[in-house]
Amino acid sequence: MRSKRETKFTEPSEHCPNPQHWHSADCETTELEVVELVAAFVRALQPELVVETGTYNGTMAREIGKALKKNGHGRLVTFEVDPVLHDAAKKRCKGLPVELKLQSSLDWEPDQKIDFCWFDSGLETRVQEFKQYYPHLKGSIIGIHDTAPQHQVRGYVEEAILGQLSPMWLNTPRGVMFAQVL
Ligand SMILES: C[S@@+](CC[C@H](N)C(=O)[O-])C[C@H]1O[C@@H](n2cnc3c(N)ncnc32)[C@H](O)[C@@H]1O
Repeated sequence: MRSKRETKFTEPSEHCPNPQHWHSADCETTELEVVELVAAFVRALQPELVVETGTYNGTMAREIGKALKKNGHGRLVTFEVDPVLHDAAKKRCKGLPVELKLQSSLDWEPDQKIDFCWFDSGLETRVQEFKQYYPHLKGSIIGIHDTAPQHQVRGYVEEAILGQLSPMWLNTPRGVMFAQVL
């Protein structure tokens, strides 16, 4: 997928003065440098179950899937509500240990521990997903995307779930928080 400089999608700001150093295909796909970081977490943590909410076209799912394949164990379960995007992601993730679900992330109840979770669906939905998955997330590492000031996600996190997290907020163009779940 062709990537463009992030300045096409995010203005320079106090939060992130030099967005030109990052790249993305479009305004929905995670910055490619952050995709690489998430894939590195998957390599470093050697998870059995990874969950992604909001597959979009499968860019992140493919990189997580490749990391899991390299690990030699583990699977990704990823959720998308749009059938066209789901189909595109299916093609992109062919041959990888990725289960693509065409359903809302909120219609799913985990039945085992989630070792790593990437929250990237609707901006308001991410906190609801966290609350729903929480019993299966204790001690795990999570990432929540779009925590920069131009989105509302950080406010939702601080209001609803901050007490359950040991967070690290990163000043990438769109913002990302990684945390250990307490
Ligand atoms: C920001 S995009 C995800 C980008 C993708 N994670 C990546 O890094 O390439 C958000 C996606 O979440 C989907 N979405 C929104 N609410 C959802 C829900 N409740 N369950 C599953 N998918 C949802 C949208 O249709 C959209 O494709």
